[in-house]
Amino acid sequence: MLSHLLHLDGIESVVLETKSREFVEQRVRAGVLEQGSVDLLSSTGVGERMRREGLVHEGIELLFNRRRHRIHFKELTGRSITVYGQQEVVKDLIRARLEAGGQIFFGVEDVRVSAFDSDRPVVRFRDQDRERELTCEFIAGCDGFHGVCRPAIPAGILRFYERAYPFAWLGILARAKPASEELIYSNHERGFALLSMRSPSVTRLYLQCQPDEDLAQWPDARIWDELQTRLASGPEFRLEEGPVFQKGVTPMRSFVAEPMQFGRLFLAGDAAHIVPPTGAKGMNLAIADVRVLSRALKAFYSSGTSDQLACYSDNCLRRVWRAQHFSWWMTSMLHRMEGPDSDFDHRRQLAELENVTSSRAAATNLAENYVGWPLE
Ligand code: PHB
Repeated sequence: MLSHLLHLDGIESVVLETKSREFVEQRVRAGVLEQGSVDLLSSTGVGERMRREGLVHEGIELLFNRRRHRIHFKELTGRSITVYGQQEVVKDLIRARLEAGGQIFFGVEDVRVSAFDSDRPVVRFRDQDRERELTCEFIAGCDGFHGVCRPAIPAGILRFYERAYPFAWLGILARAKPASEELIYSNHERGFALLSMRSPSVTRLYLQCQPDEDLAQWPDARIWDELQTRLASGPEFRLEEGPVFQKGVTPMRSFVAEPMQFGRLFLAGDAAHIVPPTGAKGMNLAIADVRVLSRALKAFYSSGTSDQLACYSDNCLRRVWRAQHFSWWMTSMLHRMEGPDSDFDHRRQLAELENVTSSRAAATNLAENYVGWPLE
């Protein structure tokens, strides 16, 4: 996305990817785009397939005590969300870059960044057994939580803020009609569950599980039974079951590295911050970061001022921390907490859900956060 935005401003970039094109185009990731992300993809010419295939949702449902309650985003905020897989966004962007003559190296190895405290940073990597070296003006570390950029910043510069959760999500993709047109977030005494989808014939479902959950203990029939129980709402409700073609465990973590910059190395997306998936913010935060970065680089190249680059981290972190709070709040309202306070926690959660689904002010607060804050 950053490479695409820079290209539109006439700024050249090279994208390095350690995986293959096939891999990143298939990798299952997030699925929810905020209105601001949708508008940015559209206004920059990469939204055509998303507008055709994406599913526009005007609300979500919260399920507790076996009853579903709708939060009507459109009515409360005038905005909506779009369900469109992250790997679909990735496909559209790769195609756009390659068609415009952009340079993407797939399957590179041993990427090393250096000299980013000077005005000529260097990136070294191996491409098909050949050593390569790029001298550039800026490095954008968009290489995820496990990438090489954040650890390359000298010790003592960054400060980390972190929270681990004592649970994870077991997620599946199944060839079955989604049982609801909108997402259902369920607080159930056996644990959280989420119904989502990728298309009218593919459903995405999640169950709260242990962080070290052994997938071998979860044959499809057990997963469906558990989902049927946790998502049940009234006698007529039944999930449509179908072949499961993807299964995995998603860990839950909150993490922020500050500042998101050192010298001419800028961190964006998961390289700088992680949110638990309950608020559906991950992909949107990454898009917001690179939008801020592309504007700052445009200002630098057009007028020579570094002011916006200097504010990059502060500008991004305001949104990041709002998303951290929202994602933590959604997580703590919906998941089963283990331990001595678990009964208290469950009662407290039901009271909070009662409040969110009966007070227009509380519902509006959830809706505004979920649909996201306008991009600057
Ligand atoms: C998804 O469809 O993968 C999804 C939807 C909503 C979330 C998280 C994941 O909060």
